[in-house]
Amino acid sequence: MSSNSTSLPDYSLAPEQVPLVGSLTLDDGERERLKSRIADTLQSRGMALVAHYYVDGDIQDLAEQTGGCVSDSLEMARFGRDHQASNLVVAGVRFMGETAKILSPEKRVFMPTLEAECSLDLGCPPDAFAQFTAEHPDRTVVVYANTSARVKALADWVVTSSCALDIVSSLKARGEKILWAPDKHLGAYIQKQTQADMLLWSGACVVHEEFKSKALDDLRKVYPDAGVLVHPESPASVIQGADVVGSTKAIVDAAQRMPNDTFIVATDRGIFHKLRQQNPGKTFIEAPTAGDGATCRSCAHCPWMAMNELRALDRVLHDDAYMASCEILVDPELGLRAKQPLDRMLAFQAG
Ligand code: 13P
Ligand code: SF4
Repeated sequence: MSSNSTSLPDYSLAPEQVPLVGSLTLDDGERERLKSRIADTLQSRGMALVAHYYVDGDIQDLAEQTGGCVSDSLEMARFGRDHQASNLVVAGVRFMGETAKILSPEKRVFMPTLEAECSLDLGCPPDAFAQFTAEHPDRTVVVYANTSARVKALADWVVTSSCALDIVSSLKARGEKILWAPDKHLGAYIQKQTQADMLLWSGACVVHEEFKSKALDDLRKVYPDAGVLVHPESPASVIQGADVVGSTKAIVDAAQRMPNDTFIVATDRGIFHKLRQQNPGKTFIEAPTAGDGATCRSCAHCPWMAMNELRALDRVLHDDAYMASCEILVDPELGLRAKQPLDRMLAFQAG
């Protein structure tokens, strides 16, 4: 049994709320100079760089070369919590930095820029969400990690796309009815897979929502032997055409594991750096979006992830005033409340 919310407004972002981010080109000499300075500073100060698969490839490489990590949002959270460094630099979007701080309030957490938002987080205003939860006290509140600390503090569970299916399945087995936020596509996918009773918030990711199923079907005809790997923030019609549906890490793992020579990938194109690095003999093709239009909505690259540039990372490490402005701060009491559903998620995964 399942149910959907009909009374909620549409919390998708309007085009003017999505920043236009052009990519900054650095010449090779400058790139190498910055990379070497960043690596030296991270190591001399014992700082760990925790990066997402969508950020600049040079930053992903730096994270690995300096003993940090590149992964999906679940693994980033676990890695940041378990690492001995007392200072973390999180290259990703704001909720990832906030999660690191909530899990380790004693650590200092910095980001290359605090302007790196997420459309799902922005599409779930805490006051409106608090009202929604208050209207449904009989439901277990499950929120996606792509939310603010205030929204997490209202939740019973936090999940990521790596563990959402398992956690919701276990809640359903316990007879619990669920209130889900913010991603309607991921929520609908989980609902379909688990048949749980889920009331869905109506947010969406501006990047994944742009993938088009008709164009994907056409592309499949051109590459009939290609494996199709899809992130579950995509619309149901796109998910339907997938061979593998999963988190960014699940996509990276599938590309290594599956025997196909060619893959069509429906997620942010930042992930192609790792896919090509790990599979030099394989071909990776971007799943079709609405096209390279005038806005960044349809370029399969998250405009907020794109703000994680090498120069911003260098600046946060070497300009004290800028560094101070890029520190993640979470009110301790709020952090304690938001930590409970995060701890629950990590304990579920560990158990
Ligand atoms: P993952 O947890 O799969 O890395 O997803 C995070 C995200 O923001 C995808 O758009
Ligand atoms: Fe948020 Fe979408 Fe960007 Fe992921 S890709 S951080 S869900 S806006």
